[in-house]
Amino acid sequence: MKNSDQRIVLTGFMGVGKSTIARLLSSMLECERIDLDSFIENSEKRTIAAIIKGEGEARFRRIETENLRRILSRDNAKIVALGGGAWTIEENRRLIKQNELTSVWLESTFEHCWRNISLSKRERPLAKNKSGARALFDDRQKYYCLADWHFVIRPELNSFEIAKKIAEEVFSRKINCNFR
Ligand code: S3P
Repeated sequence: MKNSDQRIVLTGFMGVGKSTIARLLSSMLECERIDLDSFIENSEKRTIAAIIKGEGEARFRRIETENLRRILSRDNAKIVALGGGAWTIEENRRLIKQNELTSVWLESTFEHCWRNISLSKRERPLAKNKSGARALFDDRQKYYCLADWHFVIRPELNSFEIAKKIAEEVFSRKINCNFR
């Protein structure tokens, strides 16, 4: 497969910046992107928080897998931003591999993610308190590290620079520094 034909999923913990980086990447590469959480909310006509709080996490995971399957069967979205838990589910990883998408882990420290979670207005029922979120973060590292590519989000790199690195390294596309 040519690098330019690649489709990727972005994974990583809540608050790491998957949706922002997906948005920047799709403008850099001029290609379609899909955000799994938004896709679920549009098809279910309710928020992810409402699904988890109303029907539990297990039911949410089934809905998530069904929607991921639908997204992956469309061939036009080159960039798929997953929710933070999607990659930890074996069936989802299998679907992603079967459909020949490359997985990209946005890796960062817990403190960085927690800061963004705390500043965000978005309700995240699985990260209600810091100690619970930290336990989830620690437990999930073993799944995230199974991804094909790892990009470490360091404080001195902004989202634009990370997206540029992914475009250059994963898609072999040279991005002009004046791009905004
Ligand atoms: C979740 C992450 C959320 C969302 C849901 C569950 C998780 O997405 O899918 O609340 O299990 O980590 P973000 O990673 O975009 O916050």
